[in-house]
Amino acid sequence: MNAGKDSQATAKVPVHVAIIMDGNGRWAQARGLDRSEGHVEGVNTVRRITEAASEAGVKYLTLYAFSTENWKRPQAEVDALMHLIGIAIERETPDLIKNNVRLTMIGDVERMPAEALERLRGCIAKTSHCTGLTLNLALSYSARWEIVDAVGRISADVKAGKLDAAEIDDATVARYLTTAGIPDPDLLIRTGGDTRVSNFLLWQIAYTELFFTPVYWPDFSKQDFFDAIAGFGNRERRFGLTGEQVRHAESSPENPRIGE
Ligand code: IPE
Ligand code: IPE
Ligand code: MG
Repeated sequence: MNAGKDSQATAKVPVHVAIIMDGNGRWAQARGLDRSEGHVEGVNTVRRITEAASEAGVKYLTLYAFSTENWKRPQAEVDALMHLIGIAIERETPDLIKNNVRLTMIGDVERMPAEALERLRGCIAKTSHCTGLTLNLALSYSARWEIVDAVGRISADVKAGKLDAAEIDDATVARYLTTAGIPDPDLLIRTGGDTRVSNFLLWQIAYTELFFTPVYWPDFSKQDFFDAIAGFGNRERRFGLTGEQVRHAESSPENPRIGE
C-alpha cells in the first residue's frame, strides 16, 4: 500500500516521525568499503526520506544523526562524520528552502566542531521562514543528557523563585526538554535490525508506536517509509484506555484528542 500523496486523505498520517538511522557501518562493511562510505550513502537516504516525509504530509521529522555515546567512536570516524555533516548541510540548504523545509536541531551541540556548527546554524537561520516539514536533527544528543540538563535548569529556576516546585507536572518537564513546542513522536522507526532505543527521546516516546526494520539505513527507500506510515495508520493507540473508550472518543468530534 502506498501511503504517499494518493492515500493521504484516508490514512492517518503521523504528525511527528522520529528515526534512529542505523546500519551505515554494516552496509559499507558488507560491501568491503570503509564505514565512512556508509555514512556518505546515509546522507542520500536523509535527502530521500525528507522528501518522502514532506510528500506524506508529516509535519516533524526528527533524525538521530549522532549520539552523545558516538563521540567515543574512533576519532577518524567522528571526524569524517562531522565533516560530512558540514558538507551535506551546505549542499542541501538551497533545496531545503525550495521545498519549504525548516531545519532545527537538538542536542549538546556546543560539542560539535565549529565549522559544522556554523553551517548548521546558517541553515537554521536561512530556513527559519519555511512552513512545510520541520526537519529536526538530533546531534550530539542523548535522552539522559537532555533529562539531566532539564533537571538542572528546573532546579535553578525553582531556586531563583521562577518556578514553584509544587506545580511541576508533565507539561513543565516537557517545556524544559530540547523538544519543547514539538509534539511527541507518533511513530519511531529504527533501521538496521536492532530492537533498542539507544538513549533516544526517552521521555517523548512514552506512547509512541515503534517500528523496527532490518533494512540498513542506506538502503531504506521511500516505499519502506510509506509502508511504515501505512502500518501506523492501522494501529489502535489506546493511551491506557479501553478500545471502546478510544473508538467512542474518535466518533465524538467534541472530544479532545486522546493522548494529549
Ligand atoms: C548509524 O550507523 C549512524 C551513526 C550512528 C552515526 P552506524 O554507524 O551505527 O552503523 P552500524 O550500526 O555500525 O552498522
Ligand atoms: C544509534 O545508533 C545512534 C544513531 C543512529 C545516531 P548506534 O549505532 O549508536 O546505537 P547502538 O550502539 O547500536 O545502540
Ligand atoms: Mg549503529
